[in-house]
Amino acid sequence: MLDDVLRPIHGGPDGGPEPLYDFSTNANALGPNPVILEYLQRVDPSRYPDPLYRKVHRLLAQAHGVAEEQVAVGTGTSELIHRLARWTYLRGPMLLLPPTFSEYARAARALDLPLWEAEGPEAFLALLPRASLAFLCVPNNPTGEVYAFLEEAAALAREGHTALVLDLAYYELLEAPPALPHGVWRLYSPNKAHGLTGVRAGYLVAPLDLTHFRNLAPSWPVSVYGEALLLGQLDPAAQAWLRESRRELYRLRRLLAEGLRGLGLEVRESPANFLLARVGRATEVARALRERGIRVRDGTSFGLSEWIRLSAQGEEAIGALLEALEGVLARLGA
Ligand SMILES: Cc1ncc(COP(=O)(O)O)c(C=O)c1O
Repeated sequence: MLDDVLRPIHGGPDGGPEPLYDFSTNANALGPNPVILEYLQRVDPSRYPDPLYRKVHRLLAQAHGVAEEQVAVGTGTSELIHRLARWTYLRGPMLLLPPTFSEYARAARALDLPLWEAEGPEAFLALLPRASLAFLCVPNNPTGEVYAFLEEAAALAREGHTALVLDLAYYELLEAPPALPHGVWRLYSPNKAHGLTGVRAGYLVAPLDLTHFRNLAPSWPVSVYGEALLLGQLDPAAQAWLRESRRELYRLRRLLAEGLRGLGLEVRESPANFLLARVGRATEVARALRERGIRVRDGTSFGLSEWIRLSAQGEEAIGALLEALEGVLARLGA
């Protein structure tokens, strides 16, 4: 059924009772960023946001060293992904490198765009000049991979007039973010790094004028809270908090990885704040952990049916997860 294929599958709320510990989203577990919280508290919800988002576009453009017309805000990057897929200017085959974030394929399927899912980097690069729109997630969700071929991909995309979109949702959480090639499209989702995923706002920076693209959205796609997040994340104090929190997140990720390896599990650590652990029957393990009040991300929808994805959480949460997982694995005979 197409409707089932189009259903969003993500970490986070699943309709069940609130879990004791939630490892299922990759948002910064040390958030919300207190500097941005102050921006949110100063918001006046009785007014509309600026329908043209002039100040936000101006300050984001300044921060990225581009013209204002090269920036477009949206109701989170999920909305911008769907809007990109809908843009006639880009309509044509969409190219992906699975396993990756599900929203790209979801947008292509909803619009009946030809969807090319490359079997590996070589196939991706070979197909790139013939695609209209291509997405690479840096670092990739869920594998954490940071591709070594970004420059090559950007050159091929230029040759083919392909819009190569780098999804930078977790880029700010990387230990050593790679330099980004010129001429690519960039999606920023600051609610991840700042631990504010409930505030729906993200933005796109493109190598061309986005005036028409902006007009494809209904009026006011970003709320006044979204505006506050996009402005607040530019504050040097907010960035300083992020730098500090990153160090602690890596310590927690390593602690989590060590604990999982201690249970005899294979672990694929990302250079950001999340990892994959091979547990065998991921759906059953995720369900059993959920019954014990712990939410993890089942990798099955990514095509990784033996893996669960976990984000770095506090020490108490890690202790509880490891204890529960040991029991679950023993019971399932995994
Ligand atoms: C890789 C990636 N990109 C984009 C998004 C969408 O984020 P948002 O719509 O909150 O900006 C997510 C959310 O999980 C993600 O994992």
